[in-house]
Amino acid sequence: MTRAVLPRALNAARDMPLESLKASRLRLSTHFKTPVSLSLDHRRHISAYGYTQAKALVYSQYGEPKDVLSLHTHSISPPASTSITLRMLTAPINPADINQVQGVYPSKPPMNTSLGTNVPSAVAGNEGAAEVVGLGGSVKSVAKGDWVIMKSSAMGTWRTHMQADENEVLKIDDKTGLTPLQVATVSVNPCTAYRMLKDFTSWDWGAGEWFIQNGANSGVGRAAIQLGKEWGLKSINVIRERPGWEELKKELEGLGATKVVTEEQLMSKGFKDMIKEWTNGGREPIKLGLNCVGGKNATAIAKVLGQGAHMITYGAMSKKPTELPTALLIFKEIVFEGFWVSKWGDRNPVEKKQTVDDVLRMTREGRFKDIPVEEVKWDWETKIEPLKEAVQGTLEGFRKGKSVFVFGKT
Ligand SMILES: NC(=O)c1ccc[n+]([C@@H]2O[C@H](COP(=O)([O-])OP(=O)(O)OC[C@H]3O[C@@H](n4cnc5c(N)ncnc54)[C@H](OP(=O)(O)O)[C@@H]3O)[C@@H](O)[C@H]2O)c1
Repeated sequence: MTRAVLPRALNAARDMPLESLKASRLRLSTHFKTPVSLSLDHRRHISAYGYTQAKALVYSQYGEPKDVLSLHTHSISPPASTSITLRMLTAPINPADINQVQGVYPSKPPMNTSLGTNVPSAVAGNEGAAEVVGLGGSVKSVAKGDWVIMKSSAMGTWRTHMQADENEVLKIDDKTGLTPLQVATVSVNPCTAYRMLKDFTSWDWGAGEWFIQNGANSGVGRAAIQLGKEWGLKSINVIRERPGWEELKKELEGLGATKVVTEEQLMSKGFKDMIKEWTNGGREPIKLGLNCVGGKNATAIAKVLGQGAHMITYGAMSKKPTELPTALLIFKEIVFEGFWVSKWGDRNPVEKKQTVDDVLRMTREGRFKDIPVEEVKWDWETKIEPLKEAVQGTLEGFRKGKSVFVFGKT
């Protein structure tokens, strides 16, 4: 056995029962004439020669997550130069992550064999919070114990550990008072809502002005409600009807929603009159529409927008195209646009950090509430099935909360 194959040997030892592990440690130590440090309490995080043991949800072909995801075990070499080793803390399962695995999302992580998979593979997941656990000799911007998030998408966050360059992560300057969940979910949904509310009107918002949105109970929708309230805006929020939808309505009102309506109400003949009543007979026009649903829902939203308003499409949860009445373009001069936070973040790294910091400041101050989540524990012993089920389940509607991987201290 050479030193080069040691990580593979340790890899195999990792899942051994305790007694075999002790024997294996002794054998390896005798062979290398040096103590092989293999903590029995933290068997997974193997420190011999600084190698870290990791598991990752990978895919080598596009398709339904339940069909294409597999759990790959590998070793990560000690970080050198400006690279850092990260231990994932929490990573959400967002709709875009699924679309990426299905191969229908524009951002596709490259598939390769760098993690020792038999065939070229990519690690799934785009967002998450991680703790720095290892540093290359030239690293300057982070220290062990710091929390970081990914600077860009497609870095593969559904894994227990990863290695990155220090330039690929954003350090959370002050993690006091924050939870890993809050940090793990700040960079996509709240940033999307923040930028859409700030950057897309042809005027500065005045106090008490209106916006309307569908998918209002989504992560982005909840963020828009709260940011709107923070900035003195009034919101009309469309949700899909479900048993007990009044409870959800109350919950959203608690976050700061001015009005909450169901899709059925939005599509009803009486909706225009409701809008008139709320907006002082139309004298307070709705200046912005946010659309992540598409189909008839989006058309109905567009129809109640005021003259010269902007409508931003940022998702298509119904999988139906967004159809727009011609008259809205010609006579009402509505501006229809799209927004993609990944592209925005790549083009505006400084503003991205400022946006993340601002949302985390509000979170710390108790003015930005956590999204409801369903935790999916991911310990070293966790098998692939519950992980795959959690990913696949995200495609179903009417969920109680967003599924998030919560990593054990492996
Ligand atoms: N463009 C960007 O930069 C960007 C950034 C972030 C998110 N997004 C997009 O924004 C959307 C929301 O993402 P998220 O992470 O905030 O969502 P989320 O928290 O995971 O919630 C999913 C939302 O989608 C709704 N939904 C599910 N199936 C639906 C269907 N068939 N028809 C209508 N609504 C349906 C759910 O409503 P129910 O409770 O009624 O099922 C819920 O409001 C997604 O399309 C996502 O891709 C885009």
